[in-house]
Amino acid sequence: MSSRTEVRRSTDRRPATWFAAALALLACCLLAGPAHAKTAEFSDESKACLKCHEKPDIAAKKLEDGKTLSMHIRGADYLAAQHVEQDCTDCHSDLDDKTHGKVSTPLASRRALMESMQETCRDCHKKRQKLYDDGLHAALVKQGSDKAPLCANCHDAHYQASVKLLEPIDKTSCAACHDKVFAAYKADVHGLARVAKGKDSPICADCHQSHDNKAASLGDGQKDTCLKCHKDSADKHAQWLPNTALHFEAISCVTCHSPDAKRRVNLRLYDSATDTQLREKAGVPQFVQRVKAEDVANVGLTEADLDSLLEQFGNEGGTKRKVFLRGRLEVQSGVEAHQLAPKDKALKACDACHRLGSAAFESVVLSIASADGRPLRHAVQNQVLGSVTAFDSVRGFYALGSTRIKLLDWLLGLAVAGSIAGCLAHMTARRLTRGLRERRAAASNTGRENP
Ligand code: HEC
Ligand code: HEC
Ligand code: HEC
Ligand code: HEC
Ligand code: HEC
Ligand code: HEC
Ligand code: HEC
Ligand code: HEC
Ligand code: HEC
Repeated sequence: MSSRTEVRRSTDRRPATWFAAALALLACCLLAGPAHAKTAEFSDESKACLKCHEKPDIAAKKLEDGKTLSMHIRGADYLAAQHVEQDCTDCHSDLDDKTHGKVSTPLASRRALMESMQETCRDCHKKRQKLYDDGLHAALVKQGSDKAPLCANCHDAHYQASVKLLEPIDKTSCAACHDKVFAAYKADVHGLARVAKGKDSPICADCHQSHDNKAASLGDGQKDTCLKCHKDSADKHAQWLPNTALHFEAISCVTCHSPDAKRRVNLRLYDSATDTQLREKAGVPQFVQRVKAEDVANVGLTEADLDSLLEQFGNEGGTKRKVFLRGRLEVQSGVEAHQLAPKDKALKACDACHRLGSAAFESVVLSIASADGRPLRHAVQNQVLGSVTAFDSVRGFYALGSTRIKLLDWLLGLAVAGSIAGCLAHMTARRLTRGLRERRAAASNTGRENP
């Protein structure tokens, strides 16, 4: 550690010696091997702590929540871990020398101890802490959640192995809390490929980030993440799926790739000026109040209710904004989002969706992003999709209910008929729907066009 810093400092002062210094460092590394392989030892300071804490029979501390916390620290395991070079007091700096270990002090819970230690990590890991502070988990902690993770939930301060070691995959820190999602992931294409083929296949943090994580379904959800690895997806899907860009926008990837999932149409409130999902302001929860006021009998929102809500959300503090609904076909639960199957099981049949009364369109919800980004939802009566006047607000999704179903039947006939189906269907669709699309665009005038 310190030798590394010194080398860096001396190069700042004398650039000419940079190369020599680098060589010397390289030689050091080669001779000494990995820094932690040298026989590590505790400092005298730390030894003093371990005089008591390494005793296997040190009494567990009684906590105020009724549980107990082991006070035993395994010295050898500590020396084999990442904080080998840190003294106990680098993190535990606030112990009272005079009374510590002699007078018992009250402690509410293990969580309370973790909370009291949270800021010490910042001293040495500023970058990670900053990322974490910007993430959803930290936002939940700030809101008062005692379930959302602190640093010490995901990292074992005493026995942390390298974060690069994630095999077996059960070691991923996320599994402890998101156990149902983990169980699904473990058995899906990515989990299985991770075990069989290693790190090219994503694990939790590869899709969601470890520190600055966000609500999973915000905006386009994980679409861009998927496309980062599956780069040629748009081209490959275009071979059989007309209007691929529109389908990718209107359907989350997992909707087709999690074949047994229950699906639903999510009508999301969007601000047309910024083209972003509407978010509730922190501390001003309007969504729940407003939908309840519209849907007093709790039977699902009607078209008139939706119109009224668009009006209300469009009128913010005296200024007007254009708010519209963007439909998205998605799976109903977080578990189903992690049950991706091999490609031959994916949803391909056009009439799974383009058919009157398709199961995928039976469940409809209205949603807004809460202040932390996670969705708030309320049920909508599914007839809304089929109504002609919902045109403007519900954008494309009316097509799947009824109005143009005849037209699509005809279109799909074509698609099945010939080998040039894909192109033809696409071209025909565009020609046949041009009038409608133009009318829609003119009617809504929200500035967003179908691709
Ligand atoms: C990198 C920071 C760090 C270092 C270094 C560190 N600790 Fe801790 N220690 C923590 C955190 C964080 C907790 C609370 C976390 C928890 O309970 O999971 C903790 C908790 C404890 C506890 C309460 C029991 C427990 O496991 O929660 C004891 C006892 C303890 N540390 C002793 C030591 C001793 C002795 C050393 C030196 C050998 C040491 N610690 C080094 C961060 C550190
Ligand atoms: C004389 C024995 C002794 C020594 C030396 C000692 N501890 Fe402790 N320590 C204890 C006992 C006993 C407890 C449990 C106290 C209780 O039940 O309230 C404890 C509790 C703790 C806890 C849990 C939180 C708390 O405050 O109760 C931490 C963390 C801890 N010790 C760290 C250290 C560190 C770091 C050192 C060295 C700087 C150290 N201890 C030195 C005996 C000792
Ligand atoms: C929700 C779990 C989670 C929380 C909370 C968390 N981390 Fe991490 N951390 C991870 C994972 C997973 C990795 C490894 C993947 C990566 O590098 O992003 C990691 C990596 C790291 C690394 C190693 C970076 C590297 O690549 O060398 C450090 C240091 C670290 N975290 C510190 C912290 C600190 C400090 C906090 C608290 C502010 C924290 N972490 C909170 C999950 C978490
Ligand atoms: C006194 C400085 C210091 C403090 C305080 C400290 N760390 Fe570290 N930490 C280090 C050093 C040095 C390393 C090893 C080199 C590295 O990977 O950065 C390390 C490594 C890590 C790693 C493993 C990184 C990897 O590449 O595998 C994690 C995770 C981590 N620390 C988390 C924490 C957490 C959580 C806390 C607070 C409880 C904390 N650290 C407090 C200095 C510190
Ligand atoms: C291949 C990328 C990928 C991987 C790997 C992945 N997820 Fe997800 N995750 C998603 C997608 C996609 C969604 C659904 C987002 C949406 O609704 O559009 C999601 C949703 C979630 C949600 C929100 C669930 C809800 O109730 O709405 C959580 C929590 C979550 N994932 C945790 C995890 C955990 C923990 C792991 C590891 C066991 C993991 N994810 C692995 C892509 C991934
Ligand atoms: C200490 C428990 C804990 C750990 C560990 C943990 N989480 Fe979470 N996480 C939560 C809680 C609580 C929530 C908020 C409730 C919810 O949405 O499930 C949450 C929410 C999330 C969400 C947002 C869900 C949504 O509705 O959009 C994602 C994504 C997520 N976590 C991913 C991860 C990943 C990735 C890891 C591991 C690197 C991880 N979590 C580790 C407790 C944890
Ligand atoms: C309308 C349903 C549907 C949607 C939406 C969809 N897929 Fe597919 N996908 C399929 C089907 C069906 C196949 C199998 C095609 C075949 O027969 O080869 C497939 C194949 C794949 C494959 C296998 C190899 C390849 O590239 O053809 C990957 C990877 C894939 N999809 C990823 C994605 C991603 C990423 C998204 C979101 C951007 C997505 N899919 C959206 C239905 C869909
Ligand atoms: C870190 C890169 C990465 C990310 C991100 C990623 N995948 Fe994958 N995906 C893979 C790998 C690797 C495989 C395994 C391919 C194999 O079996 O050889 C795979 C397999 C698949 C398959 C099965 C393909 C087949 O041939 O049967 C589908 C479907 C798929 N991924 C969809 C998605 C979706 C949807 C997302 C986003 C939610 C996503 N992937 C995110 C790397 C990634
Ligand atoms: C998982 C459900 C699903 C599947 C499977 C599916 N679609 Fe779609 N399709 C949709 C949705 C949702 C839209 C978007 C409606 C909108 O916004 O206009 C759409 C739009 C379209 C459009 C454009 C209509 C317009 O408004 O311009 C055409 C054409 C189309 N699909 C044809 C097909 C064909 C052909 C297949 C089979 C190869 C197919 N779809 C498979 C759900 C699906």
